[in-house]
Amino acid sequence: MKSINNVKNILEIGGGNGELTKFIADKLDVEEIVCIDSNKELTEKSTKSNRDARVMYEHINAFSYCPSYSFDLVISLHGCGSLTDRVIDIGVGSNIRNIICVPCCYSKINNEKLSLPRSHILKSKKEDYEKIINLVFKYEGSVKESDDGIRSIMRDGYRLLLNFDRLFYLQENGYDVQVTSICERKLTFSNHISLNNSMRFAIVGMK
Ligand SMILES: C[S@@+](CC[C@H](N)C(=O)[O-])C[C@H]1O[C@@H](n2cnc3c(N)ncnc32)[C@H](O)[C@@H]1O
Repeated sequence: MKSINNVKNILEIGGGNGELTKFIADKLDVEEIVCIDSNKELTEKSTKSNRDARVMYEHINAFSYCPSYSFDLVISLHGCGSLTDRVIDIGVGSNIRNIICVPCCYSKINNEKLSLPRSHILKSKKEDYEKIINLVFKYEGSVKESDDGIRSIMRDGYRLLLNFDRLFYLQENGYDVQVTSICERKLTFSNHISLNNSMRFAIVGMK
């Protein structure tokens, strides 16, 4: 299994308020971190408070962005819906050797921006893939995150299928892949409220 090392140039996509970028810049010996986000207010605020010459915040829509040179690592934390797929595309297309993305907001997958499935292995079973997606998609958004019954299993089926496609797609493009949990499966905030964190994991691709 490959490991992530010698990371000097990092691209963060959908960096929001830039906290992860700040943290990485503080903790790692990096030469440059570019943090892009489509929210101008956020990137302007981060730019104003930035005191680190290695860090750059840019107001950019990832769907119309192509990096002008190759980074060592592209990361994305909670890339809503298809944004995670765009991060993977940027990584693959720009031959970035390390990709780490944490998907979220599965109901915001936009099939007009992408033609799913994208991996050859699932494309060859497109009809079956679509049948299963149609069966389980209705549970996405209609089942509470705290629900741990059969309906949440169906919803997770949808999420799993999307993520298997992402993993296969990375593999087919020469990456070693791994999924890694980023938090406990279930966080309980009180006796009454619990947050089901199934599918809260990072997809990691390494070349
Ligand atoms: C759920 S937030 C996550 C923010 C941050 N990564 C975090 O975990 O706190 C998603 C972020 O992606 C940004 N975003 C959404 N679509 C985008 C796009 N097409 N290009 C770049 N950023 C985008 C949003 O503005 C938002 O800041």
